Amino acid sequence: MPEPSQSTPSRGAPRYDLLNHVLSMNVDRLWWNRTARTFTAVLRGPGAHVLDLCCGTGDMTFALHRRMNGGRLFGADFSHAMLVRAEQKSQDKNIRWIEADALHLPFASAHFQLVTAAFGFRNLANYDRGLAEIYRVLAPGGEFGILDFGEPKGVIGKVYRVYFRRVLPAIGTLISGVRGPYAYLPASVLRFPSPEEMLQRMRDAGFREASWTPYTFGIAGLYRGRK
Ligand SMILES: C[S@@+](CC[C@H](N)C(=O)[O-])C[C@H]1O[C@@H](n2cnc3c(N)ncnc32)[C@H](O)[C@@H]1O
Repeated sequence: MPEPSQSTPSRGAPRYDLLNHVLSMNVDRLWWNRTARTFTAVLRGPGAHVLDLCCGTGDMTFALHRRMNGGRLFGADFSHAMLVRAEQKSQDKNIRWIEADALHLPFASAHFQLVTAAFGFRNLANYDRGLAEIYRVLAPGGEFGILDFGEPKGVIGKVYRVYFRRVLPAIGTLISGVRGPYAYLPASVLRFPSPEEMLQRMRDAGFREASWTPYTFGIAGLYRGRK
C-alpha cells in the first residue's frame, strides 16, 4: 500500500484507494475483513468503544462497522485529506473521524474495548511509544489488532520481493505520477521489526496473549494482544 502519510495532496486520497486495490489485487479487502472477523465477539458487544488508528480513507473502519452492534466507532488519522475522503465514503454511518497523531491520542485512558491499526503502525516514528498509547487508551481486558505487511519466506518470498520492491513501486509511480510514496513502501516494511521482535515489544509494553497470525503466506499478518 502506498504511504500517503507525510504530505498527502488532497487529490491523492481518492487515487490512493484506486491504487491500493490495483496494486494489492484486492487482497487488502480480504485482510481487512479477516481482521474484523477476528474481533467479532468484542465488536458485537453492546456499547463497545472501538478505535481504528491510522484509518486513512476508512476501509478497515468500515469492515469493523459492518460487525458492530451499536457502540461507538472512531477512525483516527493525522492526515486531513485522508479523513475528508473517509467522511465522503462513510455516507451516514455513525463513525466519528478524528484528526490525531497515534503517538499522542486525544482520548482518556482505559476507554476502548478494541483498538486496531491497518497498514499504518509500521509508519510510526516510535513503535514502543505507539504500543504504549494503545495500551493507555485500552480498557483492562481490551484487545488490539495491528494488521501490517510482513516478509514471506522461501520461494514465494523471493517472487514476492521482486514484485514488492521493483514492480509495485514502478506501477505506483506510473499511475500516480509521484515517485516518493511508492518507493518508500518496501523500505518501511524492511524497517519494521520481525514478528519475534514485535511480539517481545508488545510483551514489554504490558500486553498479554501476544500473538501473530500470518495472512497470505506472511505477505501480511495480524498482531494481537490484550491489556
Ligand atoms: C497506508 S495508510 C493505511 C490506511 C488504512 N488503515 C488502510 O488500511 O487502507 C497509512 C495511514 O497511516 C496514517 N498515519 C501514519 N502515521 C500516523 C500517525 N503517527 N498518526 C496518525 N496517523 C498516521 C497515514 O496518514 C495514512 O493514512
